[in-house]
Amino acid sequence: MKPDTQPLALPVSTARTAPTGSNAPTAHQALPLFSLLDVEKSFPVDGGRRQLRALDGIRLTLQAGESLALVGESGSGKSTLVRVMLGLESATNGRVLYGANEPASFSAAQHRRFAREVAYIYQDARGSLNPRMSVAEVLAEPVRLHALRDEGEIPARVDELLAMVGLPTDVRHKFPSELSGGQVRRVAVARALACEPKVIVADESVAGLDVSVQAQLLNLLRDLQRDHGLAMVFVTHDLGVAAYLCERVAVMYLGRIVETGPTREVLQAPLHPYTQALMNAFPRFDAPLSVSLQGEIPSASNLPKGCRFRSRCVFASEECQQTDPAQMSYSALRQVACLTPLTPLAAVVPA
Ligand SMILES: Nc1ncnc2c1ncn2[C@@H]1O[C@H](COP(=O)(O)OP(=O)(O)OP(=O)(O)O)[C@@H](O)[C@H]1O
Ligand SMILES: [Mg+2]
Repeated sequence: MKPDTQPLALPVSTARTAPTGSNAPTAHQALPLFSLLDVEKSFPVDGGRRQLRALDGIRLTLQAGESLALVGESGSGKSTLVRVMLGLESATNGRVLYGANEPASFSAAQHRRFAREVAYIYQDARGSLNPRMSVAEVLAEPVRLHALRDEGEIPARVDELLAMVGLPTDVRHKFPSELSGGQVRRVAVARALACEPKVIVADESVAGLDVSVQAQLLNLLRDLQRDHGLAMVFVTHDLGVAAYLCERVAVMYLGRIVETGPTREVLQAPLHPYTQALMNAFPRFDAPLSVSLQGEIPSASNLPKGCRFRSRCVFASEECQQTDPAQMSYSALRQVACLTPLTPLAAVVPA
């Protein structure tokens, strides 16, 4: 029998009040901003002899004002998921909808609107900036393109954006090659904010930054989310960041979302053994680092029969060798792809 999961002490910084927007579905809930319906993405490898399944059976929605963290090991498909969501890669199967429409069939006007409403902060922030443009030009471009300010107001808006991300105004004349890694990331965040978007999709945007700069950017993003109802998809390896910033989390493993639900619930009582293993690998102030996952990681271009996590799962049974578990609803807000999910504490402790 599986042990009950224990309540987990998250780092101090994760203690927070919930953002005002609630994820609880209501009878009158508006159409999601994004809907991913059984999305698959395969890449040809070995000169086209094999297919690598980067995404497999992805079902996900993002409501207006909602913040979603995508977590999972390197290579689990996080960046591919956001790239497919934003129409930068086409899905091999399944559908991606923005509101009621598929980005692939947008009119020119819809494309322009999408480009303003949905801002993407690339994992490779430096590579995403035009090296021949100064910081001021990088920030002014979207303001001008979407006619968000009169020409005379643009310099002041550039300074305002720099201040928002904690950069001094004298960087406005510098080029990306003259900036540090941390400064480049902050310029990338400022450029995303310049569009005054409805949704920010950020891929590892604070990883590797100084703790103080990271805190400043996270606080900025959280305030924007809380005060302006910005929706957010935040790709991160850091469960503390996920808990701090995002109401909901989706845990990915080898191209599949293995668990999703409200972040605090998922992290305090994971349903999927992989989520629990991620939690165990997560540094805690009150415990030594535990051993990381044992067992072999299957190749995404040669997935085994049955559950893709079984080779590393201490609970794997005979049935897990045969059956590939689909994403199933566990409760109104939680889903899991496991034949025998871990029992959350709440379910065994009488109220
Ligand atoms: N253009 C491509 N051609 C072939 N394989 C690809 C391509 N892009 C991604 N992949 C593969 O798809 C899988 C998922 O990659 P992806 O970049 O989405 O992972 P990730 O979760 O973002 O990883 P990381 O945390 O390291 O950024 C990996 O096995 C990767 O090698
Ligand atoms: Mg990535």
